[in-house]
Amino acid sequence: MRERIYPVSVGHSDLDDDHRRLYGIADRLRGAITRGADDDILGTVLSDLADYTTYHFEREEFTLMRLDFAEYERHRQEHLALIDRLAALILKFERKVETVSAETMSFIDDWLHRHVEDYDRCLAVLLERQRQAQHAQATLATGYRSPDRKD
Ligand SMILES: [Fe+2]
Ligand SMILES: [Fe+2]
Repeated sequence: MRERIYPVSVGHSDLDDDHRRLYGIADRLRGAITRGADDDILGTVLSDLADYTTYHFEREEFTLMRLDFAEYERHRQEHLALIDRLAALILKFERKVETVSAETMSFIDDWLHRHVEDYDRCLAVLLERQRQAQHAQATLATGYRSPDRKD
């Protein structure tokens, strides 16, 4: 199974904290599978993962909406797909139809890393643009004049 990986920064401290926490819960789940933990423990970690994922997605979607993010809907659909997948997994686990396998864990790991790196990282670009625009406006508001200007 995959070794511990740390999430890339998306330029937003709360969301970066969330990603670290999500990766941490994924590490706990991976550890529980590796040591053959019982179903009580697997179930607890699995529901921690689903709960925190839901919490994080809401917070991230709120941030994306406030920034008027062009790809908002596609991003939200990606989130919904994982929530659905986790909900189905928990249901099968609770009904003892399916356990949390190494393959399931690989899927969760791959999803998280791909999503944060391919989707969430777009936020960093957007936030940087926003910071630059705010800086430019603040500079204009203070009446800054370039020392090179001759007029
Ligand atoms: Fe996201
Ligand atoms: Fe995220």
